[in-house]
Amino acid sequence: MRKLIAGNWKMNGLASSLAEIAALKGLTGTATCDIVVCPPFTLIEKAVAESRGSAILVGAQDCHAQSTGAYTGDVSADMLAEIGAHFVILGHSERRSAYREADAAVAAKATAAHKAGLTSIVCLGETREEREDGRAIDVVRAQLEGSVPEGATSSNTTIAYEPVWAIGTGLVPTIEQIEETHAAIRQALEGRMGYDGRHVRILYGGSVKASNAAAIFAVPNVEGALVGGASLKASEFAGIISAAV
Ligand code: PGA
Repeated sequence: MRKLIAGNWKMNGLASSLAEIAALKGLTGTATCDIVVCPPFTLIEKAVAESRGSAILVGAQDCHAQSTGAYTGDVSADMLAEIGAHFVILGHSERRSAYREADAAVAAKATAAHKAGLTSIVCLGETREEREDGRAIDVVRAQLEGSVPEGATSSNTTIAYEPVWAIGTGLVPTIEQIEETHAAIRQALEGRMGYDGRHVRILYGGSVKASNAAAIFAVPNVEGALVGGASLKASEFAGIISAAV
């Protein structure tokens, strides 16, 4: 399966950061994977313009479940599609914990994203405590069941497995842990979607860097990465992209 490398800038980036996209264009001209950059809302339209003529696509980091209405401060999937976004990250652990986003809310957002023609990147992942208690696989399966909506297909949905304890910490699960969890996600996707579940891309996320990317990409059922800190600098992000052959 063609790999997908997505960069999540989180709440980082002013207009000057678009220089990283310009640099990334130059560094990834021959890349054989799909590349997505998810800057903050304020930079999406500019990032779309900056990446024109390259293989780089642009995504958002969240959207609302409704397409319009009295939701002060929110942004809908239709608004994102209109300005050229192709992807939206949903249910990131930072939103699940800081804004108490539950699985059902993530599923509703994903439905809205699909209706607007966006591909959702639905994030799943256990906490350290859940991993230590031996509940990681159960937690991830339950999140998948609740967060992936009816109507999800391999063309409108990507999964990102991101152990909460690996995000921004420099800690990475063992290759065996990644393999076991991704296999469980694949099995659950096939249970949910039948044959099409085999074609949903499952990304790994959490402290991915140019130096550990190749080993992670060699794991069965890992079809790319969702990258936070290491996506902010074009040179480091390009190193991850070049590992995704
Ligand atoms: P990190 O973040 O790569 O900085 O660990 C990943 C993410 O939060 O998507």
